[in-house]
Amino acid sequence: MSEKTPLTPENNAALTEETAAAAVPETAEEPAIPAEETTVSAEETTTPADAEKKPRRKRGKKADADLTPEEKEKKEKEKEKKKKDKPKDAKKAAKRLIGYIADHKRGLIVVALCVILTSVIGAVGALIMKPVYAILEAVVNGGEAKASAVGIWVDGKINGDVAMQEILKYLLVMAIAYIVSTALSLLYTRIMLKITVTTVAQLRRELFNHLQGLPIGYFDSHKVGEIMSRFTSDVNRVSDLVSDSFPTIISAVVQGGMTLVIMLIYSWQITLIMTGALVLIVLVIIAITSICSPLFKKQQKAMGECNGYIEEYIMGIKAVKIFCYEDRSKAQFRELNEAYRRIGVKANIIGGFMGPIISMIARVNYAIAVSIGALFVVNGTGGMDVARLVTFLSYASGYGGSIASIAGCYSALISALAGAERIFEVLDTPFEPDEGNVRLAKVVSGIMGYEESDDDTAVAAWKIPAADGSVRYTPVEGNIQVKDVTFAYVEGKNVIKHLTVDVPSGKKVAFVGSTGAGKTTITNLINRFYEIENGEITIDGINIKDIKKDDLRHSMAFVLQDVGLFADTIKENIRYGRLDATDDEIVAAAKVANAHAFIEKLPDGYDTQLRSDGVNLSAGQAQLLNIARAALADRPVLVLDEATSSVDTRTERLIEHGMDQLMAGKTVLVIAHRLSTVRNSDDILVLENGEVIEEGSHQALIDLGQKYYQLYTGMFEMT
Ligand SMILES: Nc1ncnc2c1ncn2[C@@H]1O[C@H](COP(=O)(O)OP(=O)(O)O)[C@@H](O)[C@H]1O
Ligand SMILES: [Mg+2]
Repeated sequence: MSEKTPLTPENNAALTEETAAAAVPETAEEPAIPAEETTVSAEETTTPADAEKKPRRKRGKKADADLTPEEKEKKEKEKEKKKKDKPKDAKKAAKRLIGYIADHKRGLIVVALCVILTSVIGAVGALIMKPVYAILEAVVNGGEAKASAVGIWVDGKINGDVAMQEILKYLLVMAIAYIVSTALSLLYTRIMLKITVTTVAQLRRELFNHLQGLPIGYFDSHKVGEIMSRFTSDVNRVSDLVSDSFPTIISAVVQGGMTLVIMLIYSWQITLIMTGALVLIVLVIIAITSICSPLFKKQQKAMGECNGYIEEYIMGIKAVKIFCYEDRSKAQFRELNEAYRRIGVKANIIGGFMGPIISMIARVNYAIAVSIGALFVVNGTGGMDVARLVTFLSYASGYGGSIASIAGCYSALISALAGAERIFEVLDTPFEPDEGNVRLAKVVSGIMGYEESDDDTAVAAWKIPAADGSVRYTPVEGNIQVKDVTFAYVEGKNVIKHLTVDVPSGKKVAFVGSTGAGKTTITNLINRFYEIENGEITIDGINIKDIKKDDLRHSMAFVLQDVGLFADTIKENIRYGRLDATDDEIVAAAKVANAHAFIEKLPDGYDTQLRSDGVNLSAGQAQLLNIARAALADRPVLVLDEATSSVDTRTERLIEHGMDQLMAGKTVLVIAHRLSTVRNSDDILVLENGEVIEEGSHQALIDLGQKYYQLYTGMFEMT
């Protein structure tokens, strides 16, 4: 017992104090809204003349216009922050969630009907108890029965056997009622589960689909584990809410309502006194919710951070082991886990208080009802007798139960809404911009110029719509021009500065430079992983921003630094290059990349199952598969980013022929750290800190004897 420190009285007190302290700033932010209104009106009073003529809202705007830009920005930020903290978000999330569930209207109606029926049966079942009590009372009182609630009872003498028979009749009715009600519950539980599972699956699908459209920048700033937790924990919370709460709330409302009516009939005086306690219960719910709601949000966030760390740890397990980082990792995780635990304890303990407090109020309430009821029986007030009182009390306890279960749902609701908000946050993140309307098409030359066609002779062309609705076609040649591009991942830190490059169709241009010079960034910009703010990149004279992203990427083949293999067979991994490729084409592509030889040696050849990210391959083999993908894709433009960096020099020499074949007739942008592979480029650009410091052919740069010369000769020293 002593181990469970949070439960000792002092700790408990300390915890409540802590939470109270934590709760203050949260709630303190709320009144800030009226406070802002007062500032606005204070500004208004400075122009009383205006104030009389113009409507209120306009004056507020005028006051805004008087602000300096910085003030405005500050105000804007404050507003934003307030918006974030406002429970309005939770309301919005609730509305949206209801939208998802409302898709299953028919099922929900059936569930509601079943729940209402079971509730009615439950309430009526209890009614049957009254004549049973009356019979028993009659037996005890020597055969003088007094009343009957359902009119089945006949006044008169009664002996034990007749009483038993009568009671059995009632019990039979009750048994049937309960069997029916159980059947109905089974039915609605089944429907409800189906609705829940479907809704949750839909949420997961939407989340996943949305992720596909998010810009790379989103993944730069969000850890995988953190994103994952939205699919798991957050979705689960929503699932718990949907499956449990809907039937519970309906049944509680129906049962509570019916019970209330019956109680009013039996004794309106005691019922009114008992209902007074309701107000108290509602106040408790409101108070606890306002404290819990932000806590639950924080709890979900802390959990996301924990998951993010775990994911990072697993991905970097080798580095962790090599650098003996285990203890540090453990310590860091302990910290995150502890933060998660602390907020979890806080949120759940306070949330957990709700049930017991409400039960306590309900019990005290019940005790009051018993006392007053007893008084009524003794004094004969309101025609109260023992049988009436017992029946009334059985309803009264059910009444408390209904309220407690509604309160229980409420705490599930706030926790689920915290999850739902996090799910919607992802769904509301805008897609990467893709407003281009230039498409890729296959054309043949006709009498009237180019015509779209599916013929084997068809060639790829850009389909450029004009403002008047007409379209123009230009063949995809792969002329790439980078015009005065300046780019920064993080504002203020330019990684590419005033870059201008011309890569004519069919030529090979190489970028070289030290690590971090900005070479990979150029490929990121050409395939529009990131948007360019300054300068532009064109392909065949068309700004890449005007081209539909899919089509832009379809006109190029990339061999990127991050290989990105999936847990599938080797064959399917190569097929990523072109989804409609035949098996023979896959083998041919693998041969070009010189991957065929090693694939053949694998136990299952092309059907060898790769594990996630190709961990069961060597880095060089993974790169060869990546090259095979590009070979299969066979696009007019080829971008190679250190495509052979992990391949040994002998293999590199072996694939040289294949690479030449791969590059033949294409516009090639090549980034290589091994300068032997760039030697025969038409143009070589040496990058340093995002700037081109040297440009020219291999021989010209060697003759120059500067950076390129150093890199080149340095290489020879290394090998
Ligand atoms: N996603 C990113 N977010 C912020 N900075 C980045 C990102 N990717 C690269 N950088 C920075 O941009 C610079 C250039 O990186 P990169 O183009 O990858 O260099 P390299 O020439 O080695 O390929 C580096 O200083 C790196 O720190
Ligand atoms: Mg790089």
